[in-house]
Amino acid sequence: MAILVLGGAGYIGSHTVDRLIANGYDVAVVDNLVTGHKAAINKKARFYEGDVRDKQFLNSVFDKENIEGVIHFAAFSVVPESMAKPLKYFDNNTGGMISLLEVMHEHDVKKIVFSSTAATYGEPKQIPIKETDPQVPTNPYGESKLAMEKIMHWSDVAYGIKFVALRYFNVAGAKADGSIGEDHHPETHLVPIILQVASGERDELTIFGDDYDTPDGTNVRDYVHVVDLADAHILALKYLQAGNDSDAFNLGSSTGFSNKQMLDAAREVTGKPIPATMGPRRAGDPSTLIAASDKARKVLGWKPQFDDVHEIIKTAWNWKQTHPKGYDDRKGNK
Ligand code: UFG
Repeated sequence: MAILVLGGAGYIGSHTVDRLIANGYDVAVVDNLVTGHKAAINKKARFYEGDVRDKQFLNSVFDKENIEGVIHFAAFSVVPESMAKPLKYFDNNTGGMISLLEVMHEHDVKKIVFSSTAATYGEPKQIPIKETDPQVPTNPYGESKLAMEKIMHWSDVAYGIKFVALRYFNVAGAKADGSIGEDHHPETHLVPIILQVASGERDELTIFGDDYDTPDGTNVRDYVHVVDLADAHILALKYLQAGNDSDAFNLGSSTGFSNKQMLDAAREVTGKPIPATMGPRRAGDPSTLIAASDKARKVLGWKPQFDDVHEIIKTAWNWKQTHPKGYDDRKGNK
């Protein structure tokens, strides 16, 4: 039986497909290649190009494949874009989840692992953030993902479709051999932007604000390696295969690093000066986001291998140096 990965050509999706295959799973991938890259998909996976909102297309994939469970990554995920184009996010993310669950229900597929986000919590009331904390998103991206969690809950109640929602904190790094990595256009995330400066592609990093209530005034985030994150999806799948109930888990390291600390770590790893200037705050940035991740460790048995941001940055730098232009497949680079 196969595992269907929707969004398997994206950054986290492609690393998860790779880990599934390394663990002996039979994998089918659906991706519309709007932000994903065909070259990122492990060649041992069967690839279907199409959109998760296209029910006829999805039905044809479910008819062809003998699907045991689904891992769903296919979504837009740029917070500032979601502020400007909220309907694009509700249409693709939330709308896509509705078609997917309908098709799963029609084909009697009862397991889904879903990529949720720390953005569903909004401005945290306490640090570290627990799964039971209030979910009050401050942007349409987080709201679209929270709606997806709720839609899955009611589909469980009505149809018995069991889900695991994995709420990611800040994901970074690349596969150790540098064969797959992060490639967004435009890039908005801190680690790849810092490495674009290190490689001379950008002149400098602008740090968005140093007047936050944090030890050095810059935002604090919780970084987790993409392969550790990928492995959590396999554990979540096993959790559902064992007949457990639907649940949500934070995925983070439970350690916070400030933007300045990340810059210093990248300077050490790359040996490059990496010029940086201080800019104004970016709208919607919470001051500090750190996960309580003991639930994933205890219940799923998750043991992240990377506990040092230097090591995480090292793998991202390896990818950057071996793929200065990313995947270089212009179709995905719209
Ligand atoms: N930052 C800069 N300069 C840059 C880019 C980022 O200072 O050029 C800062 C941001 O202000 C923030 C930190 O680096 O303080 C991390 O920013 P990212 O954009 O890399 O990541 P976010 O924390 O904003 O977002 C991540 C995920 C989102 C998710 C969010 C949860 O990428 O998908 O966490 O809040 F919604």
